[in-house]
Amino acid sequence: MSKEIIVSGIRPTGNLHLGNYLGAVNNFVKMQHEHTCYFFIADYHSLTTHPNPADLHMNVKQVLVEYLACGLDPEACTLYIQSDLPQIPELYMMLNMHANLGELERVASFKEKARTQPNNINAGLLTYPVLMTADIIIHKATKVPVGKDQEQHLEMARTFGNRFNRVYQKEIFPEPYAFNYGNELIKIPGLQGGGKMSKSDGDGNVINLIDTPEVIRKKMSKAVTDTGPTEPNTPPSSPVQNLFDIMKLVSSEEKLTHYQSLYASCAIRYGDLKKDLAEDMIAYLQPIREKISDIQQNEELLRKVAKIGKEKAAESANQTLKECREAIGFRAF
Ligand code: ADP
Ligand code: TRP
Repeated sequence: MSKEIIVSGIRPTGNLHLGNYLGAVNNFVKMQHEHTCYFFIADYHSLTTHPNPADLHMNVKQVLVEYLACGLDPEACTLYIQSDLPQIPELYMMLNMHANLGELERVASFKEKARTQPNNINAGLLTYPVLMTADIIIHKATKVPVGKDQEQHLEMARTFGNRFNRVYQKEIFPEPYAFNYGNELIKIPGLQGGGKMSKSDGDGNVINLIDTPEVIRKKMSKAVTDTGPTEPNTPPSSPVQNLFDIMKLVSSEEKLTHYQSLYASCAIRYGDLKKDLAEDMIAYLQPIREKISDIQQNEELLRKVAKIGKEKAAESANQTLKECREAIGFRAF
């Protein structure tokens, strides 16, 4: 495959969990050696929910630490904090001038927010897809590794980029498309029977990368199952299938087959499966957890990483903005 320009970001809302790791960050780690990658911490996006300043700072630091612990290499990719690039809000402002109220109001994520938080429907929330467009097209990205829920935002990024090209009669922006590593879209299920491991469903539904062995054992012991199979060879209910799916990712094949055949013969004891799975998760996450605690102490490293990232990202962003300013008519005398 030819080399693509890739951009992706994660909003800093706390610790990364196993779903974020296996569904996103682990793929970033692989991509960074094959493509030109820009990975960032989307802290401007966080402002829609008015975080308190100390929390925001701590969350940004935590994601940076965890990105590094997962294996993002600031030399192989460009790893930066979104708010270190004022070029992004400048492009966002330019794009906003051509974004129509009607099309923004029709975006599913906006409609959902307007329904669930009617007391905080601010302009930033309405123009979230415009800011996300700026994130992506400022580096002229062609591929964006994101989950299915972001498809509509990507479609808008194509619309806004194309519109800018058309209005100013310049082919500045290519079209960005969703991208999955190896064409495989992984969805890590939650522990409470839900379809997706997500922090919005509470801490008990997720295994965080920093969870200690005790916490993991406790969360796993509470993982939802069912009353057990009564007929041989019946398909598992979805909470049980979820546990098998997680096992597929962190345990050996023999172990998975072992529990699947116990299930098929109605001899399974969920307590054993959950204990065993907890130990495998602990072992799987241990190297990452250790790195997190090392890197957390290393303020010097974090400062250096943020600085290098900012410089590399600014180089690409400045180049694009220069073309945009010129196209719009902001020209030097
Ligand atoms: P959360 O749902 O916990 O709020 P985010 O929406 O912040 O997580 O997701 C950040 C990134 O992690 C996105 O790229 C998303 O696709 C990925 N991701 C989150 N949860 C999962 C999951 N359960 N399985 C696969 N990928 C996930
Ligand atoms: N909206 C994305 C999410 O909620 C995060 C994000 C912001 C993003 N800007 C981006 C992802 C640019 C990819 C590219 O997950």
